[in-house]
Amino acid sequence: MKPCPHPTVLATLTLALLAWAPAAGADDGRRRAAVPPFAPYQQECAACHVAYPPGLLPAASWRRLTGTLDHHFGVDASLDAATTATLADWLAAHAAPSSMNPPPQDRITRSAWFVRKHDEVPAERWTLPAVKSGANCGACHTRANEGDFDERWIRMPR
Ligand code: HEC
Ligand code: HEC
Repeated sequence: MKPCPHPTVLATLTLALLAWAPAAGADDGRRRAAVPPFAPYQQECAACHVAYPPGLLPAASWRRLTGTLDHHFGVDASLDAATTATLADWLAAHAAPSSMNPPPQDRITRSAWFVRKHDEVPAERWTLPAVKSGANCGACHTRANEGDFDERWIRMPR
């Protein structure tokens, strides 16, 4: 008969597995897509919507978005060249791995994982006055600004 593994070995294994788990499934990573603190990002990119976690889009998408801020989804979100360059570099450095394909219109809300994760949200919910659009993450994810999308913090407007 095999000897029972020593308890500390088991504990170490469990800890190792726990530490490894977030990286294992991309979805788990997204659930807590923490926004690294960066003052210029909060200042310039969280006025009209939440500070989207940079890890939710690949660098190619962020480059395109920051390169077209003067016509940004129907609004002018342009910044001076130096700030734009700073934000573009920072976003690219914290972006999703380049294995993620840029979603249509470089929208987080058009990426395959987003559509899959939200397929149980009734269609009429997206157009409620308190929601307006899927891009308004904070309407349902009360900790969206910190990049915490855990189910515990979801409050769906009715
Ligand atoms: C003047 C307001 C304004 C500012 C400032 C602004 N945005 Fe936006 N942004 C919008 C609007 C409006 C939309 C479209 C929202 C919708 O479809 O409901 C949008 C959408 C987005 C989306 C796509 C969301 C989706 O549908 O998945 C991304 C990504 C984004 N913005 C990034 C940025 C970044 C990065 C900055 C800072 C450089 C920024 N925004 C600054 C107004 C703004
Ligand atoms: C109308 C409300 C609503 C809006 C707006 C919304 N979500 Fe969600 N989100 C949900 C619901 C409901 C779920 C599903 C939770 C479940 O699996 O039961 C979900 C799930 C998620 C998950 C997976 C969470 C988990 O624990 O598996 C992520 C990540 C997520 N949303 C990110 C976003 C992002 C980013 C935005 C904005 C671009 C957004 N959501 C906008 C309601 C919303």
